Amino acid sequence: MKLYRWGTAPGIAGLELHQRDVPQPQRGEVLVKVRAVSLNFRDVPADKPSTSSLVPVSDAAGQIEAVGEGVTRFRTGDRVINAYHADWIGGPYPARAKLLGYGVAQDGWLSEYRVVPQHALVAIPGSLSFEQAATLPCAAVTAWAALGGPTRIKAGDNVLVLGSGGVSIFALQIARALGATVVATTSTSKKADRLGELGAAAVVNYRDHPEWSKQVRAETNDEGVHRVVEVGGPATIRQSLASLARRSGEIALIGFAGGGSAAIDFWELMGPGGTVRWIGVGSRTDTEDLVAFLTAHHIMPVIDSVFGFDEAPTAFARLKSGQHLGKVVISL
Ligand SMILES: NC(=O)c1ccc[n+]([C@@H]2O[C@H](COP(=O)([O-])OP(=O)(O)OC[C@H]3O[C@@H](n4cnc5c(N)ncnc54)[C@H](OP(=O)(O)O)[C@@H]3O)[C@@H](O)[C@H]2O)c1
Repeated sequence: MKLYRWGTAPGIAGLELHQRDVPQPQRGEVLVKVRAVSLNFRDVPADKPSTSSLVPVSDAAGQIEAVGEGVTRFRTGDRVINAYHADWIGGPYPARAKLLGYGVAQDGWLSEYRVVPQHALVAIPGSLSFEQAATLPCAAVTAWAALGGPTRIKAGDNVLVLGSGGVSIFALQIARALGATVVATTSTSKKADRLGELGAAAVVNYRDHPEWSKQVRAETNDEGVHRVVEVGGPATIRQSLASLARRSGEIALIGFAGGGSAAIDFWELMGPGGTVRWIGVGSRTDTEDLVAFLTAHHIMPVIDSVFGFDEAPTAFARLKSGQHLGKVVISL
């Protein structure tokens, strides 16, 4: 079988194609024939040599090719995705979860076959293609967790999504299905048009309006937003805080796609009286709930582009360019 590993060349040039025998599942394990993977921000390497030699990529969809002894959850032929965290079944985030991250702490999914424990997979419905299903484990589950939590988003709430990457587009789609009003930010008018088509009530260009919280407040009749799906990080956190509904807003703290290293003034944090909640993608139970929700609401993932297995470096370059809207997929 073919697979990619990170070699010693810096950045995306470090992707190396390898051959090895197809692994066999042991007791409690299944062999997955990988049919598609999707890329996330965290999969794109820094422009320096990798030190890991790991198989990249956290998200995959495929078909069960063989099962080991004692496997009861799946049968040969079943269609599945992986749970982002191989060992987090449900309940609160276990600190050890990051020790098993696909592509960062253990081999990931950019491989024709992968053996995993049966408990690390989730069944997918026939309504989703492998390419669509492969977009779910990280970005969609993160969006689902960001809109859930102790105070779940409900009809009539205002939700702010930042940019048009994988997490933000899923958050837009899910928030709309929950009945929320969505305000989005983005960098280009072309992407703004697409965000409007996907259901954003208002779109603000954050390049034209560096203090975009003013536009967000105006678009919500000065009410502000009940949830920020915060993927921008230091570049956006101050404007996100200034966009919150007073005393009832929450920032779902997710990422740092905008770069930078801004300090937050105490009064900017205290003023809105909101909540900040850290997100670590989600558990297998969250993934199962998400799949059921998307199916019930006929929500289809927004795919930016699909590349062949041999075009993997081009797929990584597409994500790195920031020109994408939604998910970049590699089909096997
Ligand atoms: N904690 C978690 O559980 C978790 C899970 C998933 C992802 N993340 C993190 O979340 C972030 C997004 O991940 P992703 O996979 O969705 O990324 P992605 O698909 O690569 O999308 C990144 C997008 O961020 C937007 N962006 C960049 N700078 C921005 C700014 N200043 N303001 C608003 N938007 C900006 C751009 O959208 P436009 O071109 O439209 O401006 C860009 O397309 C990353 O930092 C990732 O590591 C964290």
